[in-house]
Amino acid sequence: MRKFIVGNWKMNGLLSELPTITAIRELAVSYSNVDTALCLPAPLIASAVLHNDGYIIGAQDCHQEISGAYTGCISAQMLAEAGAKLTILGHSERRGLYHENDALVRAKALAAQSAGLSVIICIGETREERDRGETEHIVLGQLSASVPDDANSSWVTISYEPVWAIGTGLIPSLEDVAQIHAAIRGALVQRFGDEGMKIRILYGGSMNGDNAASLLAIDNVNGGLIGGASLTAAKFEPIVAAASVY
Ligand code: PGA
Repeated sequence: MRKFIVGNWKMNGLLSELPTITAIRELAVSYSNVDTALCLPAPLIASAVLHNDGYIIGAQDCHQEISGAYTGCISAQMLAEAGAKLTILGHSERRGLYHENDALVRAKALAAQSAGLSVIICIGETREERDRGETEHIVLGQLSASVPDDANSSWVTISYEPVWAIGTGLIPSLEDVAQIHAAIRGALVQRFGDEGMKIRILYGGSMNGDNAASLLAIDNVNGGLIGGASLTAAKFEPIVAAASVY
């Protein structure tokens, strides 16, 4: 399965960063056996698409309704019109800071699908949940309730992101990553049959040029969702390079 390396710029990036986006696109396309994308703040999407024809630009969230009186919100159709091809949904920063639950994430996924966007649905346990030994229970529960019934590999990617590993420089042991990715794969196959084998499962949380090779070598780690290390081409490149050996 081709690896999928996705940058998540979070609330970073002004128009002055367009050259960085172009540098990332140029390095990414030079690794032709890896799929890559950059998920940008919404106001940057149209300009990034305009300057990087054919490169996959994504968003980081969308609203669950098509349109209406939702001050400050952005619909999936608006993102698609701006040129986005995909959106992250259910990132732990949205679940934690804005109280998004699984039902909302699932509704957002359906809205994205009807606008023609692919989705990356994030799931992951907190430090407290891990310490209580609840990782698998939490993660598989989120998977089951956030992912729509007609999910398939043409529009859905899963990203396992332990909340405590995001932006902290910490990562789980490689054995723990292998175990939870295997459990996610098992649940996908049980629910979606053969299609469940094809849905990509990314790892996210402090992935960088130093640890990418060992994380990407794990069975059922089909790519990465990268925050801090996606903000410059120099930091992103070694991750894409590590993904290109498969
Ligand atoms: P990080 O973020 O790579 O900065 O830990 C990952 C993410 O939040 O998707």
